[in-house]
Amino acid sequence: MTFDYKIADIGLHEAGRHQIRLAEHEMPGLMALRREFGPSQPLRGARIAGSLHMTVQTAVLIETLTALGAEVRWASCNIFSTQDEAAAAAVVGDGTPEDPRGVPVFAWKNESLEDYWWTAEQILTWPGAAESPELGPNMILDDGGDATMLLLKGAEFEAAGAVPSATEDDPEEYRLVLQTLRRALAEDPRKWTRTAGLIRGVTEETTTGVHRLYQLADQGLLPFPAINVNDSVTKSKFDNKYGIRHSLPDGINRATDVLIGGKVVVVCGYGDVGKGAAEAMRGQGARVIVTEIDPICALQAAMDGYQVARLESVLAQGDLFVTTTGGKGIILAEHMAAMKNKAIVGNVGHFDNEIDMAGLARIPGVRKVEIKPQVAEWVFDGGTGDERSIIVLSEGRLLNLGNATGHPSFVMSNSFANQVIAQIELFTKHGASADGAEGPAYANRVHVLPKVLDEKVARLHLDALGVELTELTKEQAEYLGLDVAGPYKPDHYRY
Ligand code: NAI
Repeated sequence: MTFDYKIADIGLHEAGRHQIRLAEHEMPGLMALRREFGPSQPLRGARIAGSLHMTVQTAVLIETLTALGAEVRWASCNIFSTQDEAAAAAVVGDGTPEDPRGVPVFAWKNESLEDYWWTAEQILTWPGAAESPELGPNMILDDGGDATMLLLKGAEFEAAGAVPSATEDDPEEYRLVLQTLRRALAEDPRKWTRTAGLIRGVTEETTTGVHRLYQLADQGLLPFPAINVNDSVTKSKFDNKYGIRHSLPDGINRATDVLIGGKVVVVCGYGDVGKGAAEAMRGQGARVIVTEIDPICALQAAMDGYQVARLESVLAQGDLFVTTTGGKGIILAEHMAAMKNKAIVGNVGHFDNEIDMAGLARIPGVRKVEIKPQVAEWVFDGGTGDERSIIVLSEGRLLNLGNATGHPSFVMSNSFANQVIAQIELFTKHGASADGAEGPAYANRVHVLPKVLDEKVARLHLDALGVELTELTKEQAEYLGLDVAGPYKPDHYRY
């Protein structure tokens, strides 16, 4: 079997396969879904365009989707997050480098932004689909919403008959999106409309992408249903929190190897990711200061024992600054210019605009020294001969994936079990679509998985940790007005 793919080095496949094999042992949820659904093949006929960090854990997700009958094409949702050996193993599958039998992957560590948008286009461009639309993708699995955005912007511009020119204010990245779409429109003027018409739904992994989907739905611009995987409890209360608790220090250590104990760490944002980040830093013996805009989260941080301050008040104290907000312009150039000598700055929110890298580069006299890949020293020369510098990790992009390998397998098994279930839900329960099939439909809005499925994901992970779950008796269940088999909490319960 030959297929198109673009990765760094297919020769890395054996190293990738060993890591995947070990990861499978740590991903009981995905392996249980393979056992449960493998025989019935609920994803047969699903053609999934996947855009999610191409790590070892994602390779186990990809191979679970294909084990359930899906075909996939895959790209990473971040230019630095691919593990090249995982990409190689996913391409080779059970074949050989000369005769790969896995899946087409378009991802490598250290992509340029131009490459990045090319890879996003590749997962939405299936062989033969220009002539036979039914050969195109019919599902999207997204992380951060870039694949969905590319498709919907493309369809919007096709309908308008042209791709607009970028304005002065548009960020460089959006210029590249427009450039990608302009080229695609010139080659095939119906590509995105045709593709969007076939999509049965999108399952979205992260807070930022979910936010984008709700905005689209509110404006009536969501042409297919979406499942918000992030807000499954077994995703955001686990991956965002416990995942970052593991992968943030991992990224900092691999990048800098500074001792965290005793240092002052400023964590911007105290949502799920911020809570995990602050706990990890405190666990290492750091003194943690939190910044927040939400009084509830600020109060939580205070009651958890952290100092809560404005960034401006603690610039001179912080040894390490970590953004976790999903917002933009959190750490500005003027903030970085006022930090201590050799302060470390990094981001674990989805996009790089939390840290104003463009503003940093514009500071008069600033100089960038690459220490090693994804670790840069920015040297300020205030004209006094007294040089100071700060260290910026992964150019302000997700440092836990850029400087390390992201969250560990066990927590990703929870997140990805939700992804697999969400893909099955949307693929098998859809209304009349362009390919004519009928079924009980999810409406074109953003849904979360029912709590009983969330509880199922948690249940799949208990045995591996030796958890003895207490069973509700029939009398207790009646007293509480619950079913013995769950769900155990109302939808508004916050955990
Ligand atoms: P969240 O909404 O629970 O938390 C974000 C917090 O930041 C909120 O409490 C908000 O009030 C606060 N915030 C917003 N603007 C702020 C500002 N200017 N200053 C201080 N605080 C501010 O979101 P969650 O789930 O914690 O996700 C945060 C980001 O992390 C998102 O972009 C998400 O996509 C990303 N993410 C990254 C992961 C990774 O592996 N690096 C894993 C999971 C999520």
